[in-house]
Amino acid sequence: MSNKLKVAVMISGRGSNLKALLDACDTPNFPAEIVHVISNKKTAKGLRYAEEYGVPYEVISHKDFESRIDFDMTIHEHIKKSGAEFICLAGFMRVLSNKFTELWKDKLVNIHPSLLPSFKGVDTHRQALETGVKYHGCTVHFVVPDVDSGPIIVQEVVPVLDDDTIETLEARCLEKEHIAYRRALRIIAEGKFKIEGNKVLTWG
Ligand code: GRF
Repeated sequence: MSNKLKVAVMISGRGSNLKALLDACDTPNFPAEIVHVISNKKTAKGLRYAEEYGVPYEVISHKDFESRIDFDMTIHEHIKKSGAEFICLAGFMRVLSNKFTELWKDKLVNIHPSLLPSFKGVDTHRQALETGVKYHGCTVHFVVPDVDSGPIIVQEVVPVLDDDTIETLEARCLEKEHIAYRRALRIIAEGKFKIEGNKVLTWG
């Protein structure tokens, strides 16, 4: 039996980070494997990557549930059943309940397209351009009840150029997201980290 970390990935859309993680897991000696993919949208383009890589996937639409908790608990049960021990959010566009984040405490990470704690929420590239920062980037962090606030595992930085548009800045950031997520998953799967309060110490 494989001793790799079994990971579920949750998406809502394009799935480029899912693909980056699938590619990472396909490289020799990578310490994690993706065993399940969940999308809350049946139109999510990223589902095609799950199919392509032969990973079981399913659509659980939030619209089929009366409350956030019912939706979250169904996801929880399905992920448990899949055998996954860890969850990567990769463009999953629903806020998760406190109950869900507590059930998966220290076993649930997200990628956010900014250098947190700057530019939480949506439209991060627009926020960066409007603020006039010279550097921008992305963050992989543990998920806690407060949105975009959990302990930071990995960040990658990109310069903001004078002639950047939202699109050019997003493209530059996205390349770094794929690198950051892969690095974060390796650190996690190898257990080369320690959470101390709101800080994550990493090594190796
Ligand atoms: C990424 O920018 C990620 O940081 C954010 O949502 C976007 C998802 O992109 N949370 P993709 O679906 O992985 O291509």
